Amino acid sequence: MCGIVAYTGFREARPILMEGLKRMEYRGYDSAGIAILNGGLHVSKAPGRISVLESQIKPDEMRGTCGMAHTRWATHGAPTQINAHPHVDASGRIAMVHNGIIENYQSLRTYLKDKGVEFKSETDSEVLVQLIAHFYDGDLEVAVRTALRDVRGTYGIAVICADEPDKIVAARKGSPLIIGVGDDEYVVASDAAAIIQHTTSVIYLSDGEMAVVWNDGFRTMTLDNVPVTKQVTDLEISLTDIELGGYPHFMLKEIMEQPQAAADCMRGRVNIDEGRIHLGGLANLARELVRTKRIIITACGTAWHAGLVAEYLFEDLARIQTEVEYASEFRYRNPIITDQNVVIAISQSGETADTLAALREAQEKGAIALGVVNVVGSTIARETDAGVYLHVGPEIGVASTKAYMGQLLVLTMIALQIGRRRHLSQPDLQMYLDALHAIPEKIERITKQSDAILEVAEKFKDANNWLYLGRGYNYPTALEGALKLKEISYIHAEGMPSAEMKHGPIALITKDMPVVFIATKNSQYEKVISNIEEVRARKGRVIAVATEGDTEIADMAEHVFYVPDVPEPLQPLVSIVPLQLLAYHAAVLRGCDVDKPRNLAKSVTVE
Ligand code: G6P
Repeated sequence: MCGIVAYTGFREARPILMEGLKRMEYRGYDSAGIAILNGGLHVSKAPGRISVLESQIKPDEMRGTCGMAHTRWATHGAPTQINAHPHVDASGRIAMVHNGIIENYQSLRTYLKDKGVEFKSETDSEVLVQLIAHFYDGDLEVAVRTALRDVRGTYGIAVICADEPDKIVAARKGSPLIIGVGDDEYVVASDAAAIIQHTTSVIYLSDGEMAVVWNDGFRTMTLDNVPVTKQVTDLEISLTDIELGGYPHFMLKEIMEQPQAAADCMRGRVNIDEGRIHLGGLANLARELVRTKRIIITACGTAWHAGLVAEYLFEDLARIQTEVEYASEFRYRNPIITDQNVVIAISQSGETADTLAALREAQEKGAIALGVVNVVGSTIARETDAGVYLHVGPEIGVASTKAYMGQLLVLTMIALQIGRRRHLSQPDLQMYLDALHAIPEKIERITKQSDAILEVAEKFKDANNWLYLGRGYNYPTALEGALKLKEISYIHAEGMPSAEMKHGPIALITKDMPVVFIATKNSQYEKVISNIEEVRARKGRVIAVATEGDTEIADMAEHVFYVPDVPEPLQPLVSIVPLQLLAYHAAVLRGCDVDKPRNLAKSVTVE
């Protein structure tokens, strides 16, 4: 979603800010802008890609060592030049970039209009910069603090003022901000990707905190002006993590990285010699987890699909009643939660607004809160009682692939760890540990089929409606496979339990419709075979994901993607890989920008 980068120091700000914007492109945006302080404020904004902004900038007018830039993902008002950030107050002296939503912007707008302020844009954000200007009396920090007292909603902001050169005032509530600390230079950004090139020393602002940053120092304080001492920590990511490294797209890179990501995720956690799982992040809550009677999982998007797999895993391996909830529904439903319940929030970014709110709702009602998160230091990671990081490295492609793999692995490890202390025998645990240990190599074998999958994608790329079907552990894979295809190729695809097809969607099946069956050898295999017959009888085009060695299915399906045999609870780890590749190739063949799909954002920080 929106991205903020601001710089103050001794170097020319414009190239640093433009580079920062490009590093954040993956988050999803539809307009961009930049402001540089140099005597006055120099602002340039453009709808569309950063390259459009770049082409309209006149470098000579954009000189200066302090400035800010922004990528906007439209919420209030279309993605036009006027609605793009930075927003500038009526006097043209103060500029601000904002992530989040000002909920009471209408009433603030009316208040300011009554005072004679004229608005240029339709955005909620402009209201805030005008409010800051309204309170400005020679001290930007005071004006920002005063304005924020009147604001309801979420924000990560950076503000600069032509009358106070070299100074950036930043504040956060519900939208992340990180300060990169260099030698006499600072980068304030909403995403570590915009900082990593300059420094790995960072400060994470917490909710309700502000920072005033100059070219040779900074101060941090609460929004109520109580000084806060922040620790400078090391960023865990490296530049190679966020570069293409020879791949045409981040999505393909991340699919291909999955063997390594899986190994990294399990390192030190799956111990086959000692026959145990060790999850350090859960050590303090082990007893509570084993004793809980109910687990509630909350997440959005792909993470929700991982949660659905976890529902099967926790019930199957640990025999604990488990529910998986869309965070956006859960947060507003007055859910029944007790202090005996464990809530698990799954989130790649750790910043998804709905997931965070659902988590807070559950904590409010006394539940123990766990996080399954990729981004170290993210809000969900910090607000949960305990948790397990994915450790799969930064995920840049908007369509989640290796993070989904990491989520599945972490949830499997949690289920096994709890399961062993409840119902799972040591020989069974050992069997799963051995199987987990072999997973990276098995995923690698699947990724080698990429060229064969490309040929299938070529054949079906013009079909505009697809069905994805699976049962049991393969049902979430059907949902995730369909989501991958639709989000990056814009092909309509639906996933559902195979048996549900008869209750409506079967009406859609024609000779032109690809139907992808996830039909690995497991307890429900025979039933899925019957469903395949039903589709074939209606001339549907069957593509199957099947277990290596299954020759029966080759006679029934037009194409088969084989995956190695693994125990049933681990099948989601392998079955999804050919479907990620299928979606990727279909999207590329259709000319889609797979890393920046239209309208999508990597991290959805609005509800
Ligand atoms: C967005 C992304 C999805 C992601 C979902 C949840 O919609 O495009 O890929 O699954 O948000 O994100 P999270 O960071 O909470 O896992």
